[in-house]
Amino acid sequence: MSKKLFIETLGCAMNSRDSEHMIAQLTEKEGYEAIDDFREADLILINTCSVREKPVSKLFSELGVFNKKKKPEAKIGVCGCTASHLGAEIIKRAPYVNFVLGARNVSKITEILHKDKAVEIDINYDESEFAFDDFRTSPYKAFINISIGCDKACTYCIVPKTRGDEISIPDALIINEAHRAVDKGAKEVFLLGQNVNNYGRRFSGEHEKVNVSELLRRLSKIEGLERLRFTSPHPFHMDDEFIEEFATNPKICKSIHMPLQSGSTKVLNDMKRGYSREWFLNRVEKLRAECPEVSISTDIIVAFPGESDEDFQDSLDVMRKVRFNQIFSFKYSARPETEAEHFTNTVDEEVASERLTTLQSLNTEILDEINATSLGKTYRVYFEELIKDYYVSGRSDNNIVIKVKGSDELLGEFRNVKITSIGRTILTGEVVA
Ligand code: 5AD
Ligand code: SF4
Repeated sequence: MSKKLFIETLGCAMNSRDSEHMIAQLTEKEGYEAIDDFREADLILINTCSVREKPVSKLFSELGVFNKKKKPEAKIGVCGCTASHLGAEIIKRAPYVNFVLGARNVSKITEILHKDKAVEIDINYDESEFAFDDFRTSPYKAFINISIGCDKACTYCIVPKTRGDEISIPDALIINEAHRAVDKGAKEVFLLGQNVNNYGRRFSGEHEKVNVSELLRRLSKIEGLERLRFTSPHPFHMDDEFIEEFATNPKICKSIHMPLQSGSTKVLNDMKRGYSREWFLNRVEKLRAECPEVSISTDIIVAFPGESDEDFQDSLDVMRKVRFNQIFSFKYSARPETEAEHFTNTVDEEVASERLTTLQSLNTEILDEINATSLGKTYRVYFEELIKDYYVSGRSDNNIVIKVKGSDELLGEFRNVKITSIGRTILTGEVVA
């Protein structure tokens, strides 16, 4: 009988890809089978995120529950970004944890599994030449890493401490992985990295010069690959070549994530983002001029230390000017080992909450207006998921989530869909061709 694995994945798409890799390794080398109920599992893994404080504090209460209700002989492993940053402290605080495996060390899962109380969190470990396995939770869409780590030093961000220096993965490995995914039926490839448009800055060995635009050109030659997406680009590296490739390459989906963080140049400087409000707006203008149908999503942090009311108004002003199609908004959360952790000009919790609410209501207002313009329009949808009440959902090229009545025969297929009703997170339509 096969051993059972339960894995919980928090955080970003990079973490999801790391989980896929660990599942593949454990299945192939150790005979595990992934299941949904941790109480039946022989191995419980939590793949953690440390970008904000809340999920970190939740980790220990969750570990307590796992420990209480698991099978007596089941092992517990803590993986991912919180593993990287807390390391051995996790075992000190929760002594029943069997091992700790950092975000940059996931390829070692089958080794560490057999070493009780081991801690493997070396952020200099080079996984860039390690081909990730082909196992994927969705057969329709293939997430592929193009770089690991992050070379930036944004003052609020813990990621460089958990994922280490940035190294690009050789393009031949990426292209081979994409070929294999397409051969297995994936029509969409989703490239991942902390700063995807900084691709090619540094490889671990000798490598010809290849930047992200060239990588996209090479990937789009793959026959059967119909859609290319990527996340996240950095606004600082959005040069004209990148924007032009984005706009003119028909395989690249016309949706892009541009993490603004703040609309105030002063706050952007304090965050060490490397661009000003004007640069960001200029890049949006160039994008929209080259590619009018583009949809733009963003991340915004409110109440960064020193953010005045005027600075906050600048963020709202950029929102009004750009009219983002999706916003992920966060209250600033001080993180250990970051520069901003030592900033003393913090913003009151009450003011922070108020700002978040104001920002989110402006976002809802804008989104309702944008969504209303979709009614009656037709989009080409790639169907990926069955949802309840006999609906199938997928995404338009510009990343609108759309559902239609239907069954699994639509999965992995493209259809033109006319929008018949509007919701906040999902639009409903009918297949027209
Ligand atoms: N506090 C709040 N939000 C943060 N993010 C990153 N670090 C912090 C922090 N310390 C947000 C940024 C980033 C997203 C993934 O998380 O907006 O783009
Ligand atoms: Fe992803 Fe950053 Fe969270 Fe790590 S800390 S899981 S890189 S969002």
